[in-house]
Amino acid sequence: MTQIQLNDLKARYLAHQPAINAAVQRALASGWYILGQEAAAFETEFAQACGAAGCVGVNSGTDALHLALRACDVGPGDEVITVAHTAVATVAAIRLAGATPVLVDIDPVTYTMSPAALAAAITPRTKAVIPVHLYGHPADLPTIAAEVNPRGIWLIEDCAQAHGALSHGRPVGSVGELACYSFYPTKNLGALGDGGAVTSRDPDLLARVRALREYGWTPAARYVSFSEGLNSRLDELQAAILRVFLPALDGENEQRRRLAAEYARLLPAGVVLPVEQPGCRHVYHLYVVRVPERDRVRDALAAQGIGTGIHYPTPIHLQPAYREVVELPAPLSVTERAAEEILSLPMHPSMTVEDVQQVAAALTDVLK
Ligand SMILES: Cc1ncc(COP(=O)(O)O)c(C=O)c1O
Repeated sequence: MTQIQLNDLKARYLAHQPAINAAVQRALASGWYILGQEAAAFETEFAQACGAAGCVGVNSGTDALHLALRACDVGPGDEVITVAHTAVATVAAIRLAGATPVLVDIDPVTYTMSPAALAAAITPRTKAVIPVHLYGHPADLPTIAAEVNPRGIWLIEDCAQAHGALSHGRPVGSVGELACYSFYPTKNLGALGDGGAVTSRDPDLLARVRALREYGWTPAARYVSFSEGLNSRLDELQAAILRVFLPALDGENEQRRRLAAEYARLLPAGVVLPVEQPGCRHVYHLYVVRVPERDRVRDALAAQGIGTGIHYPTPIHLQPAYREVVELPAPLSVTERAAEEILSLPMHPSMTVEDVQQVAAALTDVLK
């Protein structure tokens, strides 16, 4: 019986080993390790891949969100609307900026922000909205943008799980004023350490993020802080590694889509499958299904050597650190129900169609 892991980071490294080793050697030999030629080249290449005017490399996806909010002058007294069904980072970044997270429910099919719940939660204090393109599927950007744009509310896209996804023919990240990416190793475009980026079509916003990532300095005046920034820089080794992975992103996303199609073909009735909405390109960062008796199913798959995950088991508004500090304009019943039923099946670009067949057969057996 072959073990099938939820993700396989070592396989991803081995698939690109010679090119990564060469890139690391090049970065090491350069004698310059933070914000040098590799980071600059990666920023240009990633901006181009995203259809953005520019990109600022930072230390993580959490920092990308925090700095994007700061660049929009979001701070104490402001409300930022997002979802409770996301990585804790989305909400942590709002708190880091000093603003109040307002959490709304999700759509039961895409697991992304419900535009109707968003519309009902907007107040005069709403300064920004952060839709999350969860699991690799775009949030309903056209409807969300139509809600926030006329009101002058900042739209910041959390693209940490959706590198390469399309919303109605447009790359995710190109609709909002700012887009935030994580390069945590498990992501579709993952580094071999921490990393993140902010992209935008607005050079002024990019300049603000660029200053904030290094103590508020500007290119013309190092060591003089014009804003209260922090240290959040993309290092040269990670940038050099990301430059190897970036050209492979499209092919790896296509492999994820092939694997997803095979799951959809083989999984038995009773398993609720992910759905790709018309006009969208899902990049299956995670392959999340819903099953009855989720925890029993999970244990039975583990007994057969199949790794699964739950993304995420505890919605943010129910977590000890956040329940007192977030606002809920309405109950989050879709979110809470999803958290009890969702199950992430193995999904990574080094998997084969035969691996999917093994997982599907095991799940069929468990649900008999
Ligand atoms: C939706 C989402 N937003 C933000 C982040 C934060 O990224 P990082 O782990 O690089 O800080 C992550 C990754 O964990 C994520 O999945």
